[in-house]
Amino acid sequence: AGTLGAQAAQSGRYFGTAVASGRLGDDTYTAILDREFNAVTPENEMKWDTTEPSRGSFNFGPADRIVSHATAHGQRVRGHTLVWHSQLPGWVGSLTDANTLRSVMRHHITTEMTHFKGRIYAWDVVNEAFADGGSGQHRSSVFQNLLGDGFIEDAFRTARSADPSAKLCYNDYSIENWSDAKTQGVYRMVRDFKARGVPIDCVGFQSHFGTGGPPASFQTTLSNFAALGVDIQITELDIAQAPSTAYANTVRACMNVARCTGITVWGIRDSDSWRSGENPLLFDAAGNKKPAYQAVLSAL
Ligand code: XIL
Repeated sequence: AGTLGAQAAQSGRYFGTAVASGRLGDDTYTAILDREFNAVTPENEMKWDTTEPSRGSFNFGPADRIVSHATAHGQRVRGHTLVWHSQLPGWVGSLTDANTLRSVMRHHITTEMTHFKGRIYAWDVVNEAFADGGSGQHRSSVFQNLLGDGFIEDAFRTARSADPSAKLCYNDYSIENWSDAKTQGVYRMVRDFKARGVPIDCVGFQSHFGTGGPPASFQTTLSNFAALGVDIQITELDIAQAPSTAYANTVRACMNVARCTGITVWGIRDSDSWRSGENPLLFDAAGNKKPAYQAVLSAL
């Protein structure tokens, strides 16, 4: 097939991109979006600072625009993200009472998931809850600090009740190298959730890579997680300078793992990227295909 989405679909996978609602009026952008991609992730529009900027007051307009566009063009939607320490409005971070925060978190998850019910393929229920470095433990956040380790489980149970048709994912970065303590910490959590029946369906590997691309153990990591009984997705792929080999290696790792269900790049053109100084994407600022594009298409 001649496009990323169509080629990925031949093996039952999707190929997606992050989308910014403010760019949907850019014809070059939407032409590439609708030609190449069969999945989208709102880049910022479903985050808490946008969707519930003050307590109990919800704003789904920007995300609705992306979901409507996706629905009209047959694209799956990944929901990103419900519980995260970043892009969190100040009013949440300022809470000091555990019972209040617990009900606020549950209400946020339930209201946002209910709004989009039936239209989301997979939700990143919790994003980036683990600490960098060697601890293998959760990072400090208002959720961790007030609710303790159980906040992740609570979020997933709440999410399952809100929309049983959506796959529920844990999403993080720097969990690609199998021997890293952070990878092992997330692995132990997923293993524990599966053993105790806590609802989790998938693990998202953000995959924001340097020029070297994925670590040598990347495919091992993906298959070890898949063996726990969860789907795997590459959720925010970008690679500094976009070397063809690094992109091809990343795609091959997914293709070689049956439960790796799709790949999402974190933007369309280099000029759209949050790392635009590193030219990490598959299309240049003018919307032309870069060498990495061909490498990805060939590896799918
Ligand atoms: C980034 C967006 O791309 C930026 O536009 C925004 O300013 C900050 O967030 N991990 C994630 C994504 O899970 O939500 C982040 O997206 C990149 C890192």
